Amino acid sequence: MKNVQLEVADQIATVTIDRPKALNALNTETLSELKECFSELEKQKDVRVVILTGGGNKSFVAGADISEMVNATPAEGRAMSLLAMEAFNKLENMPQVTIAAVNGYALGGGCEIAMSCDIRIVAENAVFGQPECGLGIIPGFGGTQRLARLIGKGRAKELIFTCDRIDAQEAYRMGLANKVVPADQLMRACQEMAGRILSKGSYAVSIAKSMINAGMDMDLNNALKMEADAFGFTFSTHDKEEGMTAFLEKRPANLTDF
Ligand code: CAA
Repeated sequence: MKNVQLEVADQIATVTIDRPKALNALNTETLSELKECFSELEKQKDVRVVILTGGGNKSFVAGADISEMVNATPAEGRAMSLLAMEAFNKLENMPQVTIAAVNGYALGGGCEIAMSCDIRIVAENAVFGQPECGLGIIPGFGGTQRLARLIGKGRAKELIFTCDRIDAQEAYRMGLANKVVPADQLMRACQEMAGRILSKGSYAVSIAKSMINAGMDMDLNNALKMEADAFGFTFSTHDKEEGMTAFLEKRPANLTDF
């Protein structure tokens, strides 16, 4: 792939969006590569955590590629949105845990891809925003939907209507960032959190993720029934047997992937 790098080590995949000359802006080629990369990763059983970051030290992703969009027709704009949605939905729903390591600008499509990850750990120099209304368009890679779900309708509307940029601390206060760390410790902080997740039952983590994702789009009663079914199902796993026995025997649990 030309604009996306993938490295796998110790059950952690690191995906780097790497177009530093355009501050990692997402053009069609990069979106297609991301879709392909996420399709591959979701099949890889030896990968349990995916960390997504931007190449260079200035930008995570500065949005969709404006130089590509400037002459695009309505049909081309819609097609670009649908391609991004396909790629980001894959990212959001892959069985692995996904962590966005936000190393600078996360504007427009950059904020939108970060929101498609399970967790956002952000460098102190990170800047978030949805500048689309200032370009005469709207957020089109999921921003009108995921931002409102993540930080609430009122704050999402304010950010989208004003196009205000917010810094890492403000993003943390709003619940957009899970954690803020010094820029030079960003990848270490992501790997450290990944390590804590890897020590848990990976099947249980994966089921918990899918319950949270699916439940957000359901009414509470049906979501709770779905949780009860999944809870019961986890009682059939080795990890349940081992996790609970280890607790009662006062020893560390040796959890696997089922
Ligand atoms: N698309 C295309 N190119 C971009 C880009 C983008 N989104 N963001 C930055 N670049 C390019 C610049 O054109 C520039 O290229 P040249 O060197 O060839 O001129 C290069 O990256 C460096 O950018 P700047 O010189 O502007 O760097 P800066 O440090 O002065 O500013 C910035 C950084 C504040 C991020 C500024 O580049 C900027 O505002 N970028 C656009 C951000 C934006 O509006 N994003 C939303 C896009 S629309 C969208 O994302 C729709 C959607 O919902 C998916």
